Amino acid sequence: MSQEQKDFTSVSPSARSLLLMKGYTDIPFARETAALMQGPEVFGLNFDNKDFWFWIRVMHFEARYWSIDQLLKQASIKNILELSSGYSLRCLDLCLKDPAVHCIDTDLSGVVAAKRTLIAQLEADKNVKGKFELLPLNALNEQEFEGIVDHFGKGELSIVNEGLLMYLDIEEKKRLCRIIHAVLKQRGGYWITADVYIRRSAEMQASIPQSKGETTFFEQHNIEGNKFESYLAAGGFFEDQGFEVVHEAVINYQALSAMPHLLKVLPEHVKNNQEPPPKVQATWMLRAV
Ligand SMILES: C[S@@+](CC[C@H](N)C(=O)[O-])C[C@H]1O[C@@H](n2cnc3c(N)ncnc32)[C@H](O)[C@@H]1O
Repeated sequence: MSQEQKDFTSVSPSARSLLLMKGYTDIPFARETAALMQGPEVFGLNFDNKDFWFWIRVMHFEARYWSIDQLLKQASIKNILELSSGYSLRCLDLCLKDPAVHCIDTDLSGVVAAKRTLIAQLEADKNVKGKFELLPLNALNEQEFEGIVDHFGKGELSIVNEGLLMYLDIEEKKRLCRIIHAVLKQRGGYWITADVYIRRSAEMQASIPQSKGETTFFEQHNIEGNKFESYLAAGGFFEDQGFEVVHEAVINYQALSAMPHLLKVLPEHVKNNQEPPPKVQATWMLRAV
């Protein structure tokens, strides 16, 4: 089966689970959109028991969201394309704040349709100053991808994504790299990806409680196997695909809205631990060379 024909819709329910977690943060529109989401979620999260691990997860996804905004600011490019955005309204938020921004928000068609309904329900796009588009895109479909890039006027482009690469096997990752590389080589700009995830040791995996739903979903999509072996291996992979790592986002944990909640439920052994928590993910700004 060719990569663009593979059915990726089984990944889409994860976007819903992520939104429900982000609903506990001050990420733009997250609380309002999460409140409109109905029905069960695939990770089997326990929202009745907001313990240490609940807030760790929320904080991780909050940090990941802001890490992209941080590098976008650094890149300072007004043409922005977000891939596999799920229910995140980053593009809309950017267009509400800056009339010079043209941001195209994309995901698979089912997610895009549901998101259009959410935006309409909230009338969230009422005061858009910039140019906001929300369009279906399978990121591995080169033709579709190029068609969407053609919506932008001339000039550099920032392509961003979070929560996609761990659903792609090595050949799919290479394919995505080839597509993005060709676009950036032609137009200039950056690829900002928050998906530099490193495989967790068996010990770490055993120490993190996981719901049955989450375990099944992770196994079904080979999440751990699709992560990178190490940061060095991730760097080597992107280098082999023709990219250079320009910057890495630096997280200011103290500024995160989840932090005060996390501090309230911090177990004694964590409070007394002098070691920093293990780094499981990085957000990189890449340039096509
Ligand atoms: C884990 S969610 C992340 C959503 C969002 N970026 C976030 O962090 O909240 C993964 C998203 O990837 C989308 N997705 C999966 N395969 C895709 C593909 N080939 N092209 C575009 N989007 C895809 C899913 O529909 C889903 O919305």
